[in-house]
Amino acid sequence: MSVDFSTNLGKLKLSAPVLTASGCAAAGKELDQFFDITKIGGIVTKSIMLEARSGRPTPRMAETPSGMLNSIGLQGPGIDTFIEKDLAWLQERGATTVVSIAGNNVEEFARLASKLRDHPAVAAIEINISCPNVANRGLVFACNVGSATDVVAAVRRSVTADMPLLAKLSPDVTDIVEIASAVRAAGADGVSVINTVLGMVIDQKTLRPVLGGRTGGLSGPAIRPVAVRCVYQIHAAMPDFPILGMGGIRNGKDALEFIAAGASALSVGTATFGDPSAPMRVQDELLSEIESRGFESLSEVVGIAHKVERS
Ligand SMILES: Cc1cc2nc3c(=O)[nH]c(=O)nc-3n(C[C@H](O)[C@H](O)[C@H](O)COP(=O)(O)O)c2cc1C
Repeated sequence: MSVDFSTNLGKLKLSAPVLTASGCAAAGKELDQFFDITKIGGIVTKSIMLEARSGRPTPRMAETPSGMLNSIGLQGPGIDTFIEKDLAWLQERGATTVVSIAGNNVEEFARLASKLRDHPAVAAIEINISCPNVANRGLVFACNVGSATDVVAAVRRSVTADMPLLAKLSPDVTDIVEIASAVRAAGADGVSVINTVLGMVIDQKTLRPVLGGRTGGLSGPAIRPVAVRCVYQIHAAMPDFPILGMGGIRNGKDALEFIAAGASALSVGTATFGDPSAPMRVQDELLSEIESRGFESLSEVVGIAHKVERS
């Protein structure tokens, strides 16, 4: 029996459900030495900004129980160099490419999107709204209904109607469903859930923050229950709104949890640092999990946790 492993995130059709997570695989070139990147659902590139950036002060990583904290910041070459080098490479390689964008203000998001609108290699845009709004006291766009809406609406206006848009949400909010429905109303075709959880580590010798940026984003298995909960709540409120789920996925069983909670596709991030073949391995393991349980398609499993009646 062969399982139908294809999936879609609204207008974005994928032949397989596992993608890389933004910021954890650059533009996929390094991973291509470990597995054929055209065999996974796609590559989500590191969030790109308009201008080149060198990121936040060092140290930028701290190990934590079952996870890691990073304060890399949005380091990168700027959109023009990205299009010329990374996107050109991905296009030649034939990988399904989701380009993640991040701006300091609404207008920068719109300009980034218009630079990508007619590029044939862009399968979808992931709008990283989990970054600070410089124009509004550095408050994270994704933590406020108004600014999340403004960014997504501006990006929607800057691309063609058939360009799939995913809004990447932060879990650091009181009501993630409220933000998800706002970005949907503003024109997002789906949501990427979740970005890292804001955290901090104090050095026990110096009694000072470990990270140069003081706070950082927590990722890895430590955040998985938070991520699964967010996916579940969004799917419960809007079962037909596509979700790209992520947060601490290490293996096929972890991946299956997200699918059952309501995700139609998945991103694998932190696990890639320890095992560069993780996205491919997780995808293969997920297929075996689905097959061994007797399902004929991935879509049958999406949101199945909501259908379980408890006695
Ligand atoms: C080192 C590092 C860099 C990241 N950079 C980005 C980024 O540029 N844009 C973004 O949207 N998310 C970024 N993320 C968040 C991941 O894409 C993902 O949402 C999060 O880490 C949870 O998944 P994971 O536990 O599998 O890593 C980054 C995560 C890490 C660990």
